Amino acid sequence: MTVTAQEIRDAAPETATEEVIEFVTRVAELAKPEAVYFADGSDEEWDRLTSEMVESGMFTRLNPEKRPNSFLARSLPSDVARVESRTFICSEKEEDAGPTNNWYDPAEMKKILNEKFDGAMKGRTMYVIPFSMGPLGGPISQLGIELSDSPYVVCNMRIMTRMGAEAMRLISEGAEWVPAVHSVGAPLEPGQEDTTWPCNEEKYITHFPETNEIWSYGSGYGGNALLGKKCYALRIASTMAKRDGWMAEHMLILRLTSEETGKQYHVTAAFPSACGKTNLAMLQPTIPGYKVETVGDDIAWMRPGPDGRLYAINPEAGFFGVAPGTSHETNPMAMDTMDRNSIFTNVALTDDGDVWWEGCDIPAPTHLIDWKGNDWTPESDEKAAHPNSRFTTPAAQCPIICEDWEAPQGVAIDAILFGGRRATNVPLVAEQYEPAHGVFIGASVASEVTAAATDVKAGSLRHDPFAMLPFCGYNMADYWGHWLDMQEKLGDKFPKVYQVNWFRKDDEGNWLWPGYGDNSRVLDWIVRRAAGEVEAVPGLTGLYPKFEDFNIEGLDNFDRETWDKLYTLDPEAWEAEADETEEYFKKFGDKVPAPILEQLAKLRERIAEA
Ligand code: GTP
Ligand code: MN
Ligand code: MN
Repeated sequence: MTVTAQEIRDAAPETATEEVIEFVTRVAELAKPEAVYFADGSDEEWDRLTSEMVESGMFTRLNPEKRPNSFLARSLPSDVARVESRTFICSEKEEDAGPTNNWYDPAEMKKILNEKFDGAMKGRTMYVIPFSMGPLGGPISQLGIELSDSPYVVCNMRIMTRMGAEAMRLISEGAEWVPAVHSVGAPLEPGQEDTTWPCNEEKYITHFPETNEIWSYGSGYGGNALLGKKCYALRIASTMAKRDGWMAEHMLILRLTSEETGKQYHVTAAFPSACGKTNLAMLQPTIPGYKVETVGDDIAWMRPGPDGRLYAINPEAGFFGVAPGTSHETNPMAMDTMDRNSIFTNVALTDDGDVWWEGCDIPAPTHLIDWKGNDWTPESDEKAAHPNSRFTTPAAQCPIICEDWEAPQGVAIDAILFGGRRATNVPLVAEQYEPAHGVFIGASVASEVTAAATDVKAGSLRHDPFAMLPFCGYNMADYWGHWLDMQEKLGDKFPKVYQVNWFRKDDEGNWLWPGYGDNSRVLDWIVRRAAGEVEAVPGLTGLYPKFEDFNIEGLDNFDRETWDKLYTLDPEAWEAEADETEEYFKKFGDKVPAPILEQLAKLRERIAEA
């Protein structure tokens, strides 16, 4: 039993345009769902869908006294994270995808998708999910419609985006929108019983940057399935941004207010996954005189404003954050955000119906149900929560959400940070020498392969330029060129770039820098630089703070000696790093912009002089 074209028309709201109905009908004819449902984003709809999922076993309702209106989902062990090896950029020319992406011919991929999607939604409802990335109707915001056969996706999209009737109304008024199609790839034959996490062993996460289309097959998890996030807001948006002169970045956005002067500063920061964006976005300063407010924790869309400065919005409406390690100690603001109206995926369940993960506030209880649904005790060898288990929670609930987080025109950016996990070589903070050096800093970001790869030889790094390696929708070297173009366009109004590293270790393997709330000290120095209050000294990788200028008041066990360790740079190690970076750049052939190569040459000169 497949839905008919007439049934789709009957189900559609008045605001659904012919173009929308045509899209829905075309996909329905291919995927053959049993029913089509247009989501309106209402509370009533949320209550109904979550109750249905509790009924079907996909959701467990958490104890309403502990965590009201919140749910736990457990995925299959084979569907727990983004799948980079199955993520494709289908541009006409292979070189436009570049050496860091998996490329596929668009016509060939369409053939594969036509086969995969044929009947893929049999026995299921196809949900039509209209959404806005960014505040509804805002000048920097953009719209999309995701078709998905997963109610889990509908509920997550409701938290992560402005989803529902209002987005559909904007589309009916003629706004552009991006079509996105998602199936878990698990059709149900008549009478066949559903599983609690339907998905397919074979996965395709595909992007067509020239026609702004997204097709995702086989996975129900996070970035693979919530197509507004990485697929649209980064991969597709980065290609749109290059075409139209703006920027789509893997960056948090925060506001720092000086309590003394009342002056506001806005900072964005790009760190690779699990390198502290969500933590920095919700920072609790340990030094007096500053207030931090969160604008976004993962993605920034930035455009030049009428005054020639760069303005950023957070295109998302929620946080999809890593659960393990999050506690009232490490990130109290995140903990208070997710105390209600939230979805948890692949964490453990306590006997009293709440969630638990490694590194949360509470020591391991004597009994849990682990993320696989099995009994768990502290004697178990396995982790109770999956390392990539996540919370989906409304940004508006964050106690320090910035009052302007939904300002349609965004906030004017004063500084841009790049960072990664570097146990050696990279000092605490360095300011760019000149704009092209800022782009070089971003282009040469490398970060240590973490936990899962302890067997990799010490100091082994993965290049993750601009923290965009898995998210840039086109040739990475062209993306560096786009950054240089934007800098040229905005001139001295383009924010200064800083390289930061919270992760340097001493010879015994201890963190040299306390990090977390104390990162406010680095922000303090950056702000005082901007105000022209402090000087900086030229160093190997950029301009460094003077120890005397840096606020270390109240820091335990931190003195000149520790500072010197943070700023000791070994020219030989840097020689090796420069060689390695040069080797990496070779991947991109003659596409590497000349100013980037010049910056590498300048680094070599500084190394030679050191
Ligand atoms: P995605 O959401 O996957 O893009 O990653 P993210 O950048 O938001 O990472 P997140 O903030 O969740 O990463 C947190 C990891 O970094 C945890 O293991 C934290 O304990 C650690 N971390 C965050 N800030 C600091 C810091 O200042 N110092 C140290 N040592 N660790 C930190
Ligand atoms: Mn995060
Ligand atoms: Mn991210």
